[in-house]
Amino acid sequence: MRKTVIAGNWKMHMTCASAKEFMETFLPLSKDLPLDRRVIIAPPFTAISSLATILEGTHINLSSQNVHWEDSGAFTAEISPSMLLEHNVRYAIVGHSEPRKYFSESDEQINLRAKSAQTHGLIPIVCVGESLEQRERGEAERVIRRQVEQGLEQTDLSNLVIAYEPIWAIGTGKTCEANEANRICGLIRQWAGFNDLLIQYGGSVKPGNIDEIMSMSDIDGVLVGGASLEPQNFARIANYQAR
Ligand code: PGA
Repeated sequence: MRKTVIAGNWKMHMTCASAKEFMETFLPLSKDLPLDRRVIIAPPFTAISSLATILEGTHINLSSQNVHWEDSGAFTAEISPSMLLEHNVRYAIVGHSEPRKYFSESDEQINLRAKSAQTHGLIPIVCVGESLEQRERGEAERVIRRQVEQGLEQTDLSNLVIAYEPIWAIGTGKTCEANEANRICGLIRQWAGFNDLLIQYGGSVKPGNIDEIMSMSDIDGVLVGGASLEPQNFARIANYQAR
C-alpha cells in the first residue's frame, strides 16, 4: 500500500513571523490525520530554521524548494544538502517548472540534484510536466517521459516522490481534469517501472477539488502552491476525504 504525501510549496512567500502564525492555526487543524498521510511544508530558506523549532515533535515534515549537488563550494545563491539536514529538512523539491523556466534548469542538473539529495539522506520530490504549447502539439507524453527518464536516472525509486505538474495548471486556477491527471500518473509509474513509486499531482489543487483528485488510483498525493498559503485551506486539503 503506497503512502499519501501532501506537500505545500510556499514558493517566495512567508516571513518567519507569518510562518509562525500559519502554524498556530494549521497544527491544531491537522493533528488527527491518518498515520499513512505525510504532510510536508516547503518554506523559503529563511523560514526553515524557525519552522524546524516550531515543528519539532509534530507530524509535519520540512522540505526545501531546491538543493545543490555539491556539499559546499562557489555556487552563489545555492543551498547544500548538509545545510538543510542541519535543520531537520527531510525532503527537497527539484525540477519545479519555475526554476526550469526562469533559470533554465536542465534534466541533467535536476538528476544531479535528485541523486545528491538521496546520497545525503534527503528525499527528492522531482517535478515534471508539460507546457500548454507542448500539450496542444500532442507532445505532452513524450516531454514527460523524457523528464522522468532523465530526471530519475540512477536514483533509488523507493526513496523519491514524483510530482506531475502540468505547467498550464500551475497558479492559473485551471486544474487538469482528474481522470487525465490519473492517466498521466499511471504512465509515469509504467515508464519508471516501479509500482510503489509515489506520485503526486500538482496544479491549482484546492479544497474544492482535493477529494476528487485523491480518489484517483494512481495519484498518491498533491503538491500545492497557492492553497497552501492559507492554513484553513491547506488543513482542508490535508484532511481530504477520498470518495
Ligand atoms: P498552484 O502551484 O497550486 O498554485 O497551482 C503548484 C506548484 O507550483 O507546485
